[in-house]
Amino acid sequence: MREVYERRRSRRWSSRLYRWLEPPAPLIMNPREPLDYPLGRWNLYIGGAGREVSGYVNIDLVPTPGVDLLADAEALPFRADVFERVECDAVLEHVRCPESVMREIARVLAPGGYAHLVTPFCHPFHEYPRDYRRFTLDGLKQLASGGGLEPVSEGWRTGPTATMLVFTLEYVKLWLPWRAWRAFVHVVLGWVLFPFRYLDLLFLRSSNAGRIGNHCFLWVRKRG
Ligand SMILES: C[S@@+](CC[C@H](N)C(=O)[O-])C[C@H]1O[C@@H](n2cnc3c(N)ncnc32)[C@H](O)[C@@H]1O
Repeated sequence: MREVYERRRSRRWSSRLYRWLEPPAPLIMNPREPLDYPLGRWNLYIGGAGREVSGYVNIDLVPTPGVDLLADAEALPFRADVFERVECDAVLEHVRCPESVMREIARVLAPGGYAHLVTPFCHPFHEYPRDYRRFTLDGLKQLASGGGLEPVSEGWRTGPTATMLVFTLEYVKLWLPWRAWRAFVHVVLGWVLFPFRYLDLLFLRSSNAGRIGNHCFLWVRKRG
């Protein structure tokens, strides 16, 4: 995993060329997903390896620039009621016990604080460092339903078109035995397919988006 993050920052010419050619992501974020719940003095970002997240204490299992502390989200090394905001974006599918992580989030969250949970529903297998599960929105809400947390906002971050595009790219790459070919196809097909991502602006308005939605989100607040 460390290699993956290092390759993204590598100064080798092949990595630079690949980054320069890299197509836009085959997905767009739901413009209706609220992202502006208040930050406090102390905020926690879980699983932010490879990222600089200013304003947060960034914890991860992998030591990369930007990670403040190596820690397991299943046993957070913080006292209770400290953080006014917790971000847990695309992490719960990678932990052995998501119930423990939710208990820890509820414990370290300050009364009145907000946690933002994002999880994949229809998304290819991706190991960081393992990949254990997928979530429906109901499943995510059920997971987050204890510990004095109340849901304040929910929905789909990335929609059905994102699902179709990421699976199409993965499927085509399955046919290719060499990494260089997969990289080539990723670039070419990625540029051809990415404009379709805007169809999700229509789908994300509909309650049907979740039938084959890509990632769902949930904001919860700890009762004060
Ligand atoms: C898919 S990545 C998250 C991406 C990140 N949220 C972002 O938006 O760029 C999952 C991250 O969670 C981290 N992770 C997995 N299990 C963890 C655990 N038990 N405790 C802390 N971090 C964990 C991985 O090392 C990885 O960096």
